[in-house]
Amino acid sequence: MEFETQKSLSSDNSSGVHPDVLAYLSKINVAHTLAYGYDPITEAAQKKFREVFGTDCETYFVFTGTGANVLAVRCVCDSIHSVMCSSESHLYEDECSAAEKLTGCKLVPIEPESGKLTITRLESAYSKFRFDEHQAVPRLLTITQPTEVGTVYSLEETKQLADWAHKKGMLFHIDGARISNAAVSLGVDFKTMTVECGADLLSFGGTKNGLMFAEALVFFDKNPAKYVKYHRKQLMQLASKHRFLAGQFLAYFENDLWKKNAENANAMAKLLESLIKDIPKIKIKHPVQANGVFAVIPLEWFPILVQHTSFYPWNINEGLMRWMCSFDTTEAEIYAFTDAIKTLAHG
Ligand SMILES: Cc1ncc(COP(=O)(O)O)c(C=O)c1O
Repeated sequence: MEFETQKSLSSDNSSGVHPDVLAYLSKINVAHTLAYGYDPITEAAQKKFREVFGTDCETYFVFTGTGANVLAVRCVCDSIHSVMCSSESHLYEDECSAAEKLTGCKLVPIEPESGKLTITRLESAYSKFRFDEHQAVPRLLTITQPTEVGTVYSLEETKQLADWAHKKGMLFHIDGARISNAAVSLGVDFKTMTVECGADLLSFGGTKNGLMFAEALVFFDKNPAKYVKYHRKQLMQLASKHRFLAGQFLAYFENDLWKKNAENANAMAKLLESLIKDIPKIKIKHPVQANGVFAVIPLEWFPILVQHTSFYPWNINEGLMRWMCSFDTTEAEIYAFTDAIKTLAHG
């Protein structure tokens, strides 16, 4: 069988698995051990998360980002609850209503500004709750860090949102499918941008930054964590050969692999931006703060450019394109792509 060797800017999910992760999986592929997360590798990975976050957090490994988000909602909400989220969030837009279907709760979408929720917009949405039995009770505020359009909440913004949620009696969740890219962008460690900002739960992503299929749900507040294992099983996110899921995170934290991978992806997005930002027919739509570039281009360029390097339109009607960089995107690939753009621009 022939394999496609061309790389792309379609998605950081299009990239492969970092060789160090594969090597680590081979290394732990010996002997037999307990299944379903009762093995020493899973225990070591959970311990590693406690070290990384500098707190006694509880970590549950899952296969998918959707799984982590839905498990989060499932563990803290029931069918009388609502979740305040961005109308562009993956949870709201791209998870096939899993949170609503599998928890019974209601998602309340709020229009973001350049991907971010703001207190003003939250207040406006919150003021519409009447707090009687005719409406679902707001229970959880969730943000995506970095956002779906590649912007990054500052520490201050995150803290303000967490404080706001807590003052309203809600919990605060972060969808960190690309949390490593946000950490590199902010130049802080994971603890500073989550625990110290007031996060109660975090979907910690790995797959988009060099793991195979490994995500985790981290509980900083232990109270809602009582039945997580049961919910994870019911949501079909419990891996039997669990060491190969949890073990990926040991490789991820070893020698700061997470950081090196995210640094490369972010740097390539910045390079891409810098090479096209002055082209008059292109408008960079959102600040480039993580590993994605969102740009409006003349629509007639799309079919030509996509032949060169594949990518997806984000909003075809607006001519808005999404170019995602990965841990293994190279400078040469970015230069080749931007040369193709420049050829079109110079007509
Ligand atoms: C912000 C965000 N959250 C969650 C997910 C869900 O990940 P998965 O496709 O592994 O379910 C994605 C995937 O693209 C994402 O971009």
